[in-house]
Amino acid sequence: MKIREYTVKTDKLSYGDKVCFLFVSDLHGQAAERGGEILSVLRKRRPDAFLLGGDQISTRGTDRTESVCGFLAEAAAILPVFAVDGNHETRLRVNEKYKQEWERIRQLFSVTGVTFLHNTITVLPGRPEIRIAGFEAPLSSYRKLRRPYLPEGAVTEALGNCDSRFTVLLAHNPAFAGHYFAYGADLILAGHYHGGIVRFGRQVLISPYGFPFPKYGYGLYREDGSTLIVSSGAGDHGIPLRICNPYEMIWITLEGEGHGDHS
Ligand SMILES: [Fe+2]
Repeated sequence: MKIREYTVKTDKLSYGDKVCFLFVSDLHGQAAERGGEILSVLRKRRPDAFLLGGDQISTRGTDRTESVCGFLAEAAAILPVFAVDGNHETRLRVNEKYKQEWERIRQLFSVTGVTFLHNTITVLPGRPEIRIAGFEAPLSSYRKLRRPYLPEGAVTEALGNCDSRFTVLLAHNPAFAGHYFAYGADLILAGHYHGGIVRFGRQVLISPYGFPFPKYGYGLYREDGSTLIVSSGAGDHGIPLRICNPYEMIWITLEGEGHGDHS
């Protein structure tokens, strides 16, 4: 697995202040394959929090939930862990045919020690000036071969207005980046595309959802004072088809360059 590093500077933190996150998206149940490597980075480098970008499990293959939850519990014993749901978890939760299975999964997740942000906001422990939010897009916005659609104001409706504190927004689907930028989050973390089926550098040639050249396919984007980071993810579902597109975890360093007291 690759560790990709990004530095994000902000005047919302005091000069010299530093906060680090490890971000992993789209594990898709592959804790047995990649969990050990991720845990060893968490133990060695001790970020301030471990953030998960959704699709921790796959709709098909929920028998891997125990192994994912074992991995999550080990991580949560080391440091604070925050997660948002991806479309796979949302499908399991809302689809009537998975009702029983979701109840089993929900119970397994609930004892991991991970904070799941279902359209909610919390703060980084010991750092109330840093907020961590999770936005869960409705399942209707994920239909294959249909243009992704989210009604205007959906993020504000889910989370309330963004305030002036540094806000990290976990939001699985980068197709709605315009909504996240408009919301006013300072750092947006997404995945979902798995880096596409084929990727050349930052350019995703085709998204797994059938659209060529998605606008926010992979890497770092800056707009309106916000930063979006899109990960190629740490796992696959179905047949793994990854060309020039390794599994990755993302190390983010927030560097304060503010002058005053923002607490
Ligand atoms: Fe996804």
